[in-house]
Amino acid sequence: MAYTVPKLTDYSKESLDKAVRELVRAFEREAEAVSSEADWKNFRDRWMARKNGVLTLVNDLWLKAAPKADKRDVGQWVNELKTLVEEKVDRALERAKTQASWPKLSSDRLDITLPGIRRPLGVEHPVIKTWNEMVDIFCNLGYSVEEGPEIETDYYNFEALNFPPNHPARDMQDTLFVAGQDAKPLRERLLLRTHTSPVQIHTMEKLKPPLRIVIPGKVYRRDAFDASHSPMFHQIEGLAVDTNITFGDLKGTLDHAMKMMFGSSVKTHFRPSFFPFTEPSAEMLVSCFICGGSGKRCSDPCRTCKTTGWIEILGCGMVDPNVFEFVKHNGYDPAKVSGFAFGMGLDRVAMLLYEFPDLRLLLDGDERFLSQFAREA
Ligand code: PHE
Repeated sequence: MAYTVPKLTDYSKESLDKAVRELVRAFEREAEAVSSEADWKNFRDRWMARKNGVLTLVNDLWLKAAPKADKRDVGQWVNELKTLVEEKVDRALERAKTQASWPKLSSDRLDITLPGIRRPLGVEHPVIKTWNEMVDIFCNLGYSVEEGPEIETDYYNFEALNFPPNHPARDMQDTLFVAGQDAKPLRERLLLRTHTSPVQIHTMEKLKPPLRIVIPGKVYRRDAFDASHSPMFHQIEGLAVDTNITFGDLKGTLDHAMKMMFGSSVKTHFRPSFFPFTEPSAEMLVSCFICGGSGKRCSDPCRTCKTTGWIEILGCGMVDPNVFEFVKHNGYDPAKVSGFAFGMGLDRVAMLLYEFPDLRLLLDGDERFLSQFAREA
């Protein structure tokens, strides 16, 4: 509500103070709002016009009406108010003029002396960094990148990868199933993919051989969250299919990739393993790149490789002919083509590379941890 000069009913110090404070507050509020010369003229008249200007009213209602004994005090106040108003009215005009010459901003105010807005550069998350490095290594070998859905059917996650229904290897996967699927035939039931291997099938359905692909992505397993387990983690899968692909190709390719990733002095070691979709299957180990394979760090035991000198890094093998049977119609005749595949956990590789002790750091979103992966500008 616009300010009006009140009549003073008593001239005690308190009520005089209060009246002056209210007037000054109203004056300052109105001065703030002046933003053009036209505004300023109204403002000046309202406060300084001889007839009915606020100062004139103050003079009439406060000073002239004051009892003789209070006239001196009131007079002093009224003079001070006059000075204040006159000064500020002049300043408001200057401000209104400069503001009118500014480019129109939404706030109509710009303080160019304020520091600018600093936008810190984002950095690659350590898992994404590892993911990109691994993808680059294989792209340089002529591989291309494929991706697939994180919600899969039983068919792609298991059946076409040669896990028959009720195969005990399905238990190894600790699958997270989508609820309410029981009415569907088994192969159509939905689940969260437990590995990136189903994208092998999707790709072979889509592209004819020869094929050389890597498949990075998120995978899910029913694991409790702790320092080395997470219900969601990342894998990178590889698949090469052609005529005459041998286990020697697998070893050569993976040995090269590990040297690119962990340094040219790492050695690789293969030991027999089992996966339903590869035959033969193997686990690959790399010599510990922290202790150089000695199992010791100075005189302390090496914790990274648990003193063994070796680190288990991935599962691999030659594509099982039974898997090709599922995509035979697209040129994958197991009598004619052969291939190798591998799958590796990226979160674990990141943990090894950057030597941090707890997988949960990757998901906490703590800026103090993540900013350490910033490259120097
Ligand atoms: N899919 C397997 C896993 O998640 C890894 C793997 C991929 C093994 C390809 C062999 C070939 O454990």
